[in-house]
Amino acid sequence: MKSWRLWPQRLVGQVTLVLMLAVALEFIGSSILFENSRLYPDRENQIRRVAEQLAAATEILESSSPGERGVRAAVISNRATHLTWSVLPTLVDGGRAVENDYREELFDAEPSLRDRDLRVHADIDRALPRDTRLKVAVKLRDGSWMALSTKIRVAPWAVLLSGFGSAFTLGLGVIIAAALVLRNLSRPLRALAEAADKVGKGGQVRIAESGAGDLKLVAKAFNAMQDRIAGLLQARTEALAAVGHDLRTPLARLRLRAGFVTDPDAREALEADVDEMTSMLDSLLAYLGGQEDPEPRRRTDLAAIAMTVVDDAADAERPATYAGLDHLPVLARPLSVKRAISNIVENALHYGGDAALTLTRDGDTAVLAIEDNGPGIPEAELTHVLQPFHRLDDARARNTGGLGLGLTIVQQILQRENGTLVLKNRPRGGLRVEIRLPAL
Ligand SMILES: Nc1ncnc2c1ncn2[C@@H]1O[C@H](COP(=O)(O)OP(=O)(O)OP(=O)(O)O)[C@@H](O)[C@H]1O
Ligand SMILES: [Mg+2]
Repeated sequence: MKSWRLWPQRLVGQVTLVLMLAVALEFIGSSILFENSRLYPDRENQIRRVAEQLAAATEILESSSPGERGVRAAVISNRATHLTWSVLPTLVDGGRAVENDYREELFDAEPSLRDRDLRVHADIDRALPRDTRLKVAVKLRDGSWMALSTKIRVAPWAVLLSGFGSAFTLGLGVIIAAALVLRNLSRPLRALAEAADKVGKGGQVRIAESGAGDLKLVAKAFNAMQDRIAGLLQARTEALAAVGHDLRTPLARLRLRAGFVTDPDAREALEADVDEMTSMLDSLLAYLGGQEDPEPRRRTDLAAIAMTVVDDAADAERPATYAGLDHLPVLARPLSVKRAISNIVENALHYGGDAALTLTRDGDTAVLAIEDNGPGIPEAELTHVLQPFHRLDDARARNTGGLGLGLTIVQQILQRENGTLVLKNRPRGGLRVEIRLPAL
């Protein structure tokens, strides 16, 4: 299509051209059909024609000498009507109702035939469209016979129907063809809509800059817009990560200097604040740098990691327990997985007061459940808490540290490890968080 110079560049032009072609095609097709249906005159006309031919031929033959009659008959025959002359009758009248009807119709059409001896024989074709082979013999004044044989095409309904039918088929064909071409033309538009939808959901899609001229412009603008947005996001992320990173040094210094504060209460409070800020920075950096984690995937024992997290909590005298399989290997980044489990256990201990871990295997999937006996999360919030920086009012009101990144990071990690995260409220209160990873 591209190399065709007459093909319009803009979508409007292309659609108009397709419509024009469709209309032209329909016009040509129906003209042909119409011409075709005109080849079939109606029955009445055909009989009148036969009657007129009979009358004319009778007169011609009667005015010719017997010796010429055979040749004359042949000469006035034509493609549709065959005439012969003979001294003795060659035709026996059929005598049936059809034949009598034909005779009456011939008489009606040409009253001069009424006083003649007319023999009629009609044979209806067995095959469609059931034409009638009509033979008529007329006795001339001198007792010799002229015979005419022709075909009465009696298919007005069949022809009409097939005319309508073929007009309908033609119209349908043209519409389908035009629809296919238009569909093709609008393909870039659909691709654009799909891409816009994906981009709206946070993906990045490069669309082909092809199709009609104006669509090509839209595709170009769309791709450029994506590049700008991605660049902007990248710049912001880098700035945030740099600030986060640089804040660690003064924080480390602050922690050292806190050691010089003599009042033990003030020193402890100061150290707790610094720890909180450090962990907030850590999670911020984990969130921002999540995609670039250089740690390789390897065979990792999920049970061992879960037990380590529980032991760490127990060492800090916090109520965490572990039950279930002693070993369950998965292919994953161990540090990432440990961070994910810690984030959930941290939440369970913090918001629920306790954490019970259970590791089971469900077919090919390792299922680590972390349950607590706290208030759980309102059903409507279950998906929102996965959004970055989203915290429930309750958590915010407590004024405890935390940025609302814990579960976002878990989600991010599990996506990279081909795992899933399931959050549900337990029937008897508390939250149940499941980490599902493909088991080895
Ligand atoms: N086990 C739980 N029980 C009740 N609410 C919870 C539980 N876990 C998480 N939440 C709610 O979900 C919110 C989001 O949790 P998330 O771990 O993402 O962030 P955070 O704990 O507030 O901060 P961060 O983990 O970044 O320090 C929490 O603020 C809290 O309101
Ligand atoms: Mg948390």
